[in-house]
Amino acid sequence: MASTSSASVSPDTLCIDQPDDWHLHFRDGDMLAMTVPATARVFKRAIVMPNLAPPVTTVAQAEAYRQRILANVPSGIEFEPLMALYLTQDTTAQDVREAAQNPNIIGYKLYPAGATTNSSAGVRAVDAMGPVLETMQEFGVPLLVHGEVTEPEIDIFDREKVFIDRYLAPITERYGRLKVILEHITTKDAVDFVTSAHDLVAATLTPQHILMNRNDLLVGGVHVHNYCLPVLKRRTHQEALQQAAISGNRKFFLGTDSAPHVQAKKETACGCAGCFSAFTAIELYAEAFAQLDALDKLEGFASHFGADFYGRPRNTQKLVLQRTEWQAPETVTHNGETWVPYWAGKSLQWQVRV
Ligand code: DOR
Ligand code: ZN
Repeated sequence: MASTSSASVSPDTLCIDQPDDWHLHFRDGDMLAMTVPATARVFKRAIVMPNLAPPVTTVAQAEAYRQRILANVPSGIEFEPLMALYLTQDTTAQDVREAAQNPNIIGYKLYPAGATTNSSAGVRAVDAMGPVLETMQEFGVPLLVHGEVTEPEIDIFDREKVFIDRYLAPITERYGRLKVILEHITTKDAVDFVTSAHDLVAATLTPQHILMNRNDLLVGGVHVHNYCLPVLKRRTHQEALQQAAISGNRKFFLGTDSAPHVQAKKETACGCAGCFSAFTAIELYAEAFAQLDALDKLEGFASHFGADFYGRPRNTQKLVLQRTEWQAPETVTHNGETWVPYWAGKSLQWQVRV
């Protein structure tokens, strides 16, 4: 296997293999003209989450969605959308076999019903999914997991840990050949679980969970643009995520969870969950890794470990970041609508060289 230290790091320039985003939300329709170029400017591939309304549950729906995405890739840019299918209580073993035959389908996404945006069609009884998980294991179809329980009596800050203990640990023990990706992890509990689980268990890490903790959500007022799910946790958890990201452990890799909601749906009495990070994604990770004095670890995390885990080739193009101070955009407008991106108006120390 190729070395993971091909990155060249000088004080002012960082050249890495082109990265991939192993978890994001493009949405659909007119928005694709904004979201797809924002990601394709940097990433060669991205796993596109299926939580549209209605959700993307079939191979045919995913293929049609993929074509709509490809129609919005700027000319001259190579970009490959990898489609996740939405697991429901009604998904069958036959559905899984069909998905396994399509190289553009990367896996099934398990949303516990009610856990997050457009998850009402998600899984209500994880315990009843045995035959489907069995077939996924048999046919090599990965399981991507939003790892939170939804019972109202469980405190929102504990929902990830309870999901791991109650559902994920038993699944990974029972299906030792099933690839499982715990998405957007937020706790030390998740880091410890993934680290000690078998080799086919991995996790994605978002920029916001590495760069922030719940103080950034709640101190001095409610900072709605830092609200996402799973919600930011306390600082000790953030530190565990930071250490996982820079550890060089190949089980931890980049997945932005970039999740746009228009400004009016964030800045309201009951605001939507999601941080829209696509316009500054790799730069945010560079910011975090630089703060941790670990820029030499960025390439493995951003460009190698995810591809290796999913059994896809590493990218051969390069991406160059330059040390230069700039500001993340305050807003993004498209077709008369406005979004406030994550990190809006704040400084960044690294920028992609175009
Ligand atoms: O913050 C989030 N936003 N977390 C999710 O799990 C879904 C996402 C969205 O689609 O808005
Ligand atoms: Zn997501």
